[in-house]
Amino acid sequence: MGSAVIIGASGGMGKALADAIEEEGNHDRVWRFSRADGFDLTDEASIAAAAARVAAGPAPTLVIVATGILHEGGHGPEKALKDIDADWLARVYAINAIGPALVAKHFVPLLPKSGTPVFAALSARVGSIGDNALGGWHGYRASKAALNMLLRNVAIELKRRSERAIVVGLHPGTVDTDLSKPFQGNVAPGKLFAPDRAALQLLDVIEGLKPQDSGKVFAWDGAEVPF
Ligand SMILES: NC(=O)c1ccc[n+]([C@@H]2O[C@H](COP(=O)([O-])OP(=O)(O)OC[C@H]3O[C@@H](n4cnc5c(N)ncnc54)[C@H](OP(=O)(O)O)[C@@H]3O)[C@@H](O)[C@H]2O)c1
Repeated sequence: MGSAVIIGASGGMGKALADAIEEEGNHDRVWRFSRADGFDLTDEASIAAAAARVAAGPAPTLVIVATGILHEGGHGPEKALKDIDADWLARVYAINAIGPALVAKHFVPLLPKSGTPVFAALSARVGSIGDNALGGWHGYRASKAALNMLLRNVAIELKRRSERAIVVGLHPGTVDTDLSKPFQGNVAPGKLFAPDRAALQLLDVIEGLKPQDSGKVFAWDGAEVPF
């Protein structure tokens, strides 16, 4: 069965995903990593230490990166060019794109060579360049677009080692978590998912993935999100 790894298990989506995977009982062990126990995406040594702990047990067949920021410490998404701040932009890139790339660096080598292991990172539809008709949210959009490109690269590199392994980005829909709280005003009724529902929807999408889906981004309803 192998283990499952949730990075960002303290978050709305991360906790719901870890709980749902535990409930399903399809894995020998469910690892939960978060800042509360010393795992920080901006500290590569903490990522390597987490990977070393996982490597000592059953090989991970499912790794989900459920971290991300849209606002933090008084900073939020930029509405316009005048709002761009170099430090905040760098912070958003560090958490949303570079962090998941470092997680891939340390965890992808642990995926078993046989079977159909999955490495997934929570992305966002607004990271689609082709879909972007509204603008705004410069850092969040651009960092998620960068994440999607990094995931595609990881998928291509991994294919050379494991033909059936899968690397994807996932858009959970708009979910009622701390991340979306300040921006829920414009969400249509019925379109704001509870985290436990959103987790089950994403696990269904993961369940249905095929090796040829690797490198792509999928939304909660299974539809592919264009790059
Ligand atoms: N909610 C939505 O509507 C929505 C929509 C589209 C995409 N997404 C994506 O879904 C993912 C999960 O978001 P969420 O809604 O569950 O948000 P959330 O409840 O705010 O959770 C965010 C998680 O990221 C972690 N994190 C932040 N900075 C970190 C760092 N430096 N090192 C390690 N962990 C760090 C947080 O850890 P702490 O608890 O330690 O802060 C928390 O576990 C994100 O990638 C987000 O972009 C969400």
